[in-house]
Amino acid sequence: MIKSICCIGAGYVGGPTMAVIAQKCPHIKVTVVDLNEARIAAWNAADLSKLPVYEPGLDAVVAEARGRNLFFSTEVDRAIEEAEMIFISVNTPTKTYGVGKGMAADLKYIELCARQIARVAKSDKIVVEKSTLPVRTASAINEILDHTGNGVQFQILSNPEFLAEGTAMEDLFAPDRVLIGGDTTPEGQKAIQALVDIYANWVPKENILTTNVWSSELSKLTANAFLAQRVSSINAMSELCEKTGADVNEVARAIGLDSRIGSKFLKASVGFGGSCFQKDILNLVYIAKSYGLHEVADYWEQVIIMNDHQKRRFAKNIISTLYNTVSGKKIAFLGWAFKKDTNDTRESAAIYVADDLMGEQAHIAVFDPKVEKVQMLSDINYLNTRSEHDNEKLLSTFSDPYEACHNAHAIAVLTEWDEFKTYDWQKIYDGMLKPAFVFDGRNILNKHELEKIGFVYQGIGMM
Ligand code: NAD
Ligand code: UDX
Repeated sequence: MIKSICCIGAGYVGGPTMAVIAQKCPHIKVTVVDLNEARIAAWNAADLSKLPVYEPGLDAVVAEARGRNLFFSTEVDRAIEEAEMIFISVNTPTKTYGVGKGMAADLKYIELCARQIARVAKSDKIVVEKSTLPVRTASAINEILDHTGNGVQFQILSNPEFLAEGTAMEDLFAPDRVLIGGDTTPEGQKAIQALVDIYANWVPKENILTTNVWSSELSKLTANAFLAQRVSSINAMSELCEKTGADVNEVARAIGLDSRIGSKFLKASVGFGGSCFQKDILNLVYIAKSYGLHEVADYWEQVIIMNDHQKRRFAKNIISTLYNTVSGKKIAFLGWAFKKDTNDTRESAAIYVADDLMGEQAHIAVFDPKVEKVQMLSDINYLNTRSEHDNEKLLSTFSDPYEACHNAHAIAVLTEWDEFKTYDWQKIYDGMLKPAFVFDGRNILNKHELEKIGFVYQGIGMM
């Protein structure tokens, strides 16, 4: 039975996942390591509101397990050496250079981990791919580990993570399934069983699925591609609704009640964001192309093309509605995170919509309940569209939503935070320039109520 686990990477996946394993398995020592000292310090912060990841319910789990059998540290070598099982949960972003730039997954952090494990390990280890990886990555990791020359035996498992941000704790407590891929050899099966035994501490056995490594690796990319595809499909329909008088919310409900289609992931929006969907589909497209499967690649790429179009047309619509000019106008953004209940902003639609509007010299005034000002500026600077100085002139942030909206020409809702629904919309209206426009990129506000107050309201996929 495994008694000691190490996880390399204390991010949005490594942190919450290991916190839950530690909580559910008090007999296992779980050490989460990272090179980023500030991040580890934040995981160790006495004030639990300072944890680096905001996720409802995470603070309580950390409070229970931290210091008991859950530890956060920067001592990577030591943690590797001590552990019988090592999870690799580092980032695998889209490559920004060289062959496969803008498409392939950048595996340099994965390779560094594998080399470090190979260098440090003195006893047999089970290495678990927790990061999302291109299919067949396990064979590359295997080759690196096989060349240690010190007789240490490694088993590689694929155990992709399916949690969604904002609901990570519930997803981890009661996953639809846990997927574990491993070698079909007896040693591979033994390693699979060791990981099954860990999850079995709280996940029903019938929800733990075991497969070969390649199926497991590919299933993760496939799941994200299918989910993102649903969002792009409904968003494509939203544009048609706006032309025809159909209402996308009604269409989504009507088709979602068909049990073959299902009701989830049919919310039309300003476009999907997050660190996973775009990166994983681009990776899938790249893999398909590398096998010469161009039709397969084009099929999935269209999901991204549709999403880019959805973000862009939201910005375009704001500009055309505001009499074809937003220059010098204040546009308040409610929300910057890529979805509610997270402080994560990676690939958030808000960044791209802001950038388009700033290109037209609009002043963007942002309020988000959980995102820090430095993060918003860093997101917009990362695009490199204009100088940092110009970005600071055009993008301001507020800690009070009413101030953000004061004297604005328009409000754009970019994230579906629940609190936006309960604001005093009369007070907001009174403080705005008239006509007062609301562009609801998440269809969360009450159109009828807002129009009664006097707003000009536009949602996604409705006239
Ligand atoms: P993240 O960027 O939040 O965290 C990754 C961490 O790894 C960073 O803190 C980084 O400093 C650390 N790191 C990188 N190289 C390291 C090294 N050599 N040694 C020690 N630490 C190192 O990323 P994330 O969102 O947690 O995602 C991690 C993986 O999980 C990715 O492959 C992602 O695709 C996958 N995933 C993410 C989600 C999600 O919702 N975020 C869900 C499922 C799967
Ligand atoms: C996703 C997958 O859901 C998760 O299983 C995987 O492990 C990681 O990637 P995440 O990116 O955290 O999770 O959030 P998700 O809930 O999938 O939302 C992704 C984006 O799609 C968000 O911007 C969200 O607002 C958008 N979305 C989602 C819609 O626009 N409409 C929907 O109906 C659902």
